[in-house]
Amino acid sequence: DKTSLWGGRFASGPSPELVELSRSTHFDWRLAPYDLAGSRAHAMVLQAAGLLSRDDLTALIAGIDALAADVESGAFTAQPDDEDVHTALERGLLERLGPELGGRLRAGRSRNDQVATLFKMYLRDHAKAISRLVRELAEALATQAERHMGIAMPGRTHLQHAQPVLLAHHLLAHAWPLVRDLDRLTDWDARVGADSPYGSGALAGSSLGLDPEKVAADLGFSGSTANSIDGTAARDFVAEFAFVTAQIGIDVSRLAEEIILWNTKEFGFVTLHDGYSTGSSIMPQKKNPDIAELARGKSGRLIGNLAGLLATLKALPLAYNRDLQEDKEPVFDSIDTLEVLLPAFTGMIATLTFNTERMESLAPQGFALATDIAEWLVRQGVPFRDAHEISGACVQACEQRGIELWDLSDDDFLAISPALTPQVREVLTVEGSLASRDSRGGTAPVRVAEQLAELRARVASH
Ligand code: ARG
Repeated sequence: DKTSLWGGRFASGPSPELVELSRSTHFDWRLAPYDLAGSRAHAMVLQAAGLLSRDDLTALIAGIDALAADVESGAFTAQPDDEDVHTALERGLLERLGPELGGRLRAGRSRNDQVATLFKMYLRDHAKAISRLVRELAEALATQAERHMGIAMPGRTHLQHAQPVLLAHHLLAHAWPLVRDLDRLTDWDARVGADSPYGSGALAGSSLGLDPEKVAADLGFSGSTANSIDGTAARDFVAEFAFVTAQIGIDVSRLAEEIILWNTKEFGFVTLHDGYSTGSSIMPQKKNPDIAELARGKSGRLIGNLAGLLATLKALPLAYNRDLQEDKEPVFDSIDTLEVLLPAFTGMIATLTFNTERMESLAPQGFALATDIAEWLVRQGVPFRDAHEISGACVQACEQRGIELWDLSDDDFLAISPALTPQVREVLTVEGSLASRDSRGGTAPVRVAEQLAELRARVASH
């Protein structure tokens, strides 16, 4: 078998069943440009170590560039006998340069250190792409928040009316987790970018006097791996990346779930843009929030990819084992999933219409101002324990009579407690309630305006 990278000690070629099982070109082909970049960097350190002449290096680089152009145009593709992308590209180089020159490049490197490095490079590029998409979603939320700065809505805990909050405050509460996801991607990149495995060889390093730091710099890393066994066997960088993608999916799914609820007849809080909703094949009246539902569903898939990857890594002995070839498909799928999901989701958010009158009219209902009564009493010097009781008694009186807190008369209030003077009415409006919550991070309009500026600065810093 002339095209295999490992035929020497074998009397027969691989069985067709093995070839079928072993092949990974259908998914690792996306590493081809990174493999070729690695080959250029490797050729240069081979020359620096005296293992290639200047002319050899020039010819090798020209051959790699020609192959890269053919990969790019689709003129060069993987053949059924190519085990993986590295094997296929080696074949392409041998075809272009002949066995004498083409055969020199493999010195001092292994697919084990290659694939670990190329995978990092690929993930680093897609971390940037995903970061941009997450930024766009956070910006869409910020724009909607700005557009609805003065609008109140029912804030909920346990899905029950709790206290009125600003719609902008609630929308920004979905944006902050995305900011932390951006931070996570940046942190991850700093860790991964410090550590190029190229030069680790199969596991033990190289005897050929090659300079891994030089290769690392050429490939965009700030340093090379300190331990060649770790360099070839570690995949925590993949698991961590898969976690961040899963967390992004989960953060989006929480917003998705609320959009689905808000879009029901019962809530009636939002209207989806026609371009970002779907119809039913049988029910002509339907307008469905499919993007939000797909976001909710795909978050499960992202979690599955992370869980599958961790299962592959669990108890895997050092150093490289072929199990590690299973590390790529899950995280490629997570990347592909987010790269189609996020643009659609951002479009849905950017074009969402809020039924603000309905939100505002529901904001104070369900005795959502009861806490305001209690805190008003505390400001009058009443211990909170008593204040809580008194405010609870107001709720009970209202519930018995089927009225809201602001419907109680001055006499009703005084009968419940002498501390409840008519001044309590200043917090019995949504505006008064919102304005009073003016500590940092609170829902008072002045604080939410500050928060919006803070969020935008954080998003822009990525
Ligand atoms: N295709 C393999 C992977 O993705 C790399 C090849 C390593 N093969 C080997 N026999 N050491 O992990």
